[in-house]
Amino acid sequence: LTHPFPLASCLGYRMASFLHLFHIFFLISTSFFLVTQSKPPQRTAFNPRTAFNPNKLVLPIQKDQATHLFITNIHKRNPLKQVPFVVHLNGQFLWVACEQSYLSSTYHAPLCHSTQCARANTPYCHTCNSTPRPGCHNNTCGLMATNPMTHQAAMAELAQDVLSIQSTKGSKPGPLVRVPRFLFACIAGLGHAPISLPNQLASHFGFPPKFALCLPSSASNVPNGAIFFGDGPYLMLPGIDISSQLRFTPLTISPEGQYYITLTSIRINNKQ
Ligand SMILES: *[C@@H]1O[C@H](CO)[C@@H](O)[C@H](O)[C@H]1NC(C)=O
Repeated sequence: LTHPFPLASCLGYRMASFLHLFHIFFLISTSFFLVTQSKPPQRTAFNPRTAFNPNKLVLPIQKDQATHLFITNIHKRNPLKQVPFVVHLNGQFLWVACEQSYLSSTYHAPLCHSTQCARANTPYCHTCNSTPRPGCHNNTCGLMATNPMTHQAAMAELAQDVLSIQSTKGSKPGPLVRVPRFLFACIAGLGHAPISLPNQLASHFGFPPKFALCLPSSASNVPNGAIFFGDGPYLMLPGIDISSQLRFTPLTISPEGQYYITLTSIRINNKQ
């Protein structure tokens, strides 16, 4: 997070059929402890035939005191490495600063017009006039990405690599599970787009494309919140079902795939 954000998003989406499945809710948490804190994650490969198939995944969130941004760590690459990401609710895809020393034996950039590019909904063929490295290849597919912090836009290479994430079993942490060919460009995007983090996790593991954000409060001494992927109930230690305390409001999704809440009025001191 020390580097300037090079880019992030402007993808199409074909998700109309998912609209009715999508519920998100926010919970400002001040006093809950995260399920996943109790024990370090076990590293287990996901095998659809033999292994445990999770129906719920969790990412811890921290608030960065210097920037007031919400940060999460995601395990990526081979060998696995914890990479910090900014949580961006309307991000269209997971966004990595690829010009940093990206070392991974499993990095792969799909060729343009491949099925992966169709999934990311990009017809654009990327070229790069430098020496080949992650983020720089010819005839791969490009994604137009805009950094939500700096509003700078740039072309990013669509890439594929291993992503690992903590599962949960009821109120207990489950094993770390793998998505071997996770598609990304570069910020932890939770947007309503085909290759956003919630949609890729839901389609890989076959659970409903739902997620819950529990943001840590800056006033709180508890620095951790969480993002849950999959259906509720969402349990936090010591066995508290936070989903029962949530309030719901309908969301509208813009043609750009961004979440909106429709306001009917604003009232301050009983004045409308
Ligand atoms: C892409 O092609 C151009 C022109 O042939 C070449 O100069 C450049 O080095 C190539 N880039 C990569 C990353 O191979």
